[in-house]
Amino acid sequence: MNGKPFYITTPIYYPSDKLHIGHTYCTVATDTMARYKRMQGYDVMFLTGTDEHGQKIEQKAQAAGVTPQQYVDNIVSGIKDLWKLMNISNDRFIRTTDDYHVESIKKIFKKLYDQGDIYKGTYKGKYCTPCESFWTESQLVDGKCPDCGRDVIDAEEEAYFFRLSKYSDRLVKYYEEHPDFLEPASRLNEMINNFIKPGLEDLCVSRTSFDWGIQVDFDPKHVVYVWIDALSNYITALGYGNEKYHDYEKFWPADVHFVGKEIVRFHSIIWPAMLMALDLPLPKKVYGHGWLLLEGGKMSKSKGNVVDPVVLVQRYGVDSLRYFLLREFPFGSDGTFSNEALIARINADLANDLGNLVSRTVAMVEKYFAGALPQEQASDLMDDEIVQMASSLRGRYEAQMEKYAFQNALVETFKLISRANKYIDETAPWVLAKEEANRPRLARVMYNLLESIRISSVLLTPFMPESCAKIQEQIGAAKELCTWESAGEWGLLPAGIAVKRGESLFPRIDAVKELAELEAAKKPAAAPEKAEKPAAKAAKVPEGCVSIDEFAKVEMTVCKVLACENVPKSEKLLKFQLDDGSGAPRQILSGIAKYYKAEELVGKTLVACTNLPPRKMMGQESNGMLLSAEKDEALNLLILDDKIPAGARLC
Ligand code: MSP
Repeated sequence: MNGKPFYITTPIYYPSDKLHIGHTYCTVATDTMARYKRMQGYDVMFLTGTDEHGQKIEQKAQAAGVTPQQYVDNIVSGIKDLWKLMNISNDRFIRTTDDYHVESIKKIFKKLYDQGDIYKGTYKGKYCTPCESFWTESQLVDGKCPDCGRDVIDAEEEAYFFRLSKYSDRLVKYYEEHPDFLEPASRLNEMINNFIKPGLEDLCVSRTSFDWGIQVDFDPKHVVYVWIDALSNYITALGYGNEKYHDYEKFWPADVHFVGKEIVRFHSIIWPAMLMALDLPLPKKVYGHGWLLLEGGKMSKSKGNVVDPVVLVQRYGVDSLRYFLLREFPFGSDGTFSNEALIARINADLANDLGNLVSRTVAMVEKYFAGALPQEQASDLMDDEIVQMASSLRGRYEAQMEKYAFQNALVETFKLISRANKYIDETAPWVLAKEEANRPRLARVMYNLLESIRISSVLLTPFMPESCAKIQEQIGAAKELCTWESAGEWGLLPAGIAVKRGESLFPRIDAVKELAELEAAKKPAAAPEKAEKPAAKAAKVPEGCVSIDEFAKVEMTVCKVLACENVPKSEKLLKFQLDDGSGAPRQILSGIAKYYKAEELVGKTLVACTNLPPRKMMGQESNGMLLSAEKDEALNLLILDDKIPAGARLC
């Protein structure tokens, strides 16, 4: 037990309705590292939390008809449930709406202002009046507002600025003196070449266009910029600037911040500069991990291509998913997620290699020795290799874990597992079992297998805590033989060890059946029968007509109106929450406020085109288009009677 402090953090997550497998990836990696360090005897502080302020949240809450606080409270409890499901062992959970954090941020802002690192100036930018948003030139899309596509105007507003430019030289010097500060190394070059060399500009750190943020005490129409608020969580959660906690001295500077690559810039430039201004030490390391992609790019809710970790845990179990995430992708690089890869990995490594090794070994000890090995055992020269490999595994594993190379640490461990499976084939216990005289030899073979399983299961514990505890129970290894110290030593199990057969840990998955089920689960309900018939030979389509195939591409879905309201500040738009039969409400905005009152449409059965790309109107997302008929000044929505259920398709 070394008892030294080790402080590790995940980013704090935006409370978006559903965290996906990409968010889960980062949290599982952090959890695994925290468990590994605890196993080594460190006094670990593992912090995660939620980043709850900002205009987007304010808008979403407004859309949902609740206060921002109610909105985030609801989502944050779902995030905590997800971490429970993923067996995340965080020691603390910070919410940026927590009183103590708010208190600290106010103090930090005031201190920086008093000492001249924050000053009042004028923010100049492009302003979209309907969306009430400032944009920089580079954020515009074709010169228009990236949210609603409308014209923007030149505008300026009073704002506070942080003197980021003042810290350029000190940052570069710091990087030079601490080449390991940011990893992987490629990310450091990117920061220097893309951001620092072109020159750092002072950072606008307050907003007046919305309220949902931490108020600047001495100038209450301003709220603190979310990144100043968010980054500071790493110290406020230890009690910096508040009396809620008292571990700042013990845990700061953090040993490592794990962050996704797109927020490396905030963590390796803005955050260190803020700490320099506060005269506080910098974190020892920022590790920028890669993204989990899906074919075609990054997962995002707006693209509708997210993978739900809850579904995967329900189907394959939490440990299989944790293992897959850290085994399949090198931590520092991007990787493409697929169900095929997940199932293949579970089958090959967990069902075939690890699961089989455990179940075969335990079954053989039961069969040949009624569950308990005899004391009399006979070694052989051929055992040397596996004994050597198992005894030295911890060192190789540790070397990789210290570099945050989770994948390599697992590869090393599975080399022993494969070797043990091969050892079964080489020693052929079923042949030894035929002769009574071979019993001591057979017992030793079993012992060597149990020892190899013990050592590998200890090292796999941070990755798959529940399954490894079960493995250790099955091989009869006492808790004190499953510690970090004991993983470095061969021969600790007592000679007369007794095993206890248990459930199959990683059942093999029927890949073909499973993939078909997953695919079907992705598809919207009841595809029309016609689609299953072989496509007719394409007939020539006359000018001005669309082919039946082209027509069939337009997805028109029966939807029930769950809720409908006017969009604030808009005369035209109504906002609908619709049941489209998929189980999740669909939001559509429609410019029909002139023709219908919101309340008269609730409960009606409408038809929507549901495969248009999402678009933003007045800063709010619309996912589809309601069908209506229009002529001159008249407009009629297509309203069906309510005999047809939501989700039915027009055909
Ligand atoms: N709130 C900020 C972080 C503030 S930290 C002081 C934020 N939140 S986030 O919810 O958008 O993202 C949280 C983390 O999830 C980020 O590190 C981000 O990189 C990570 N991921 C989100 N999607 C991801 C993938 N598809 N793949 C891997 N990680 C991804 O940013």
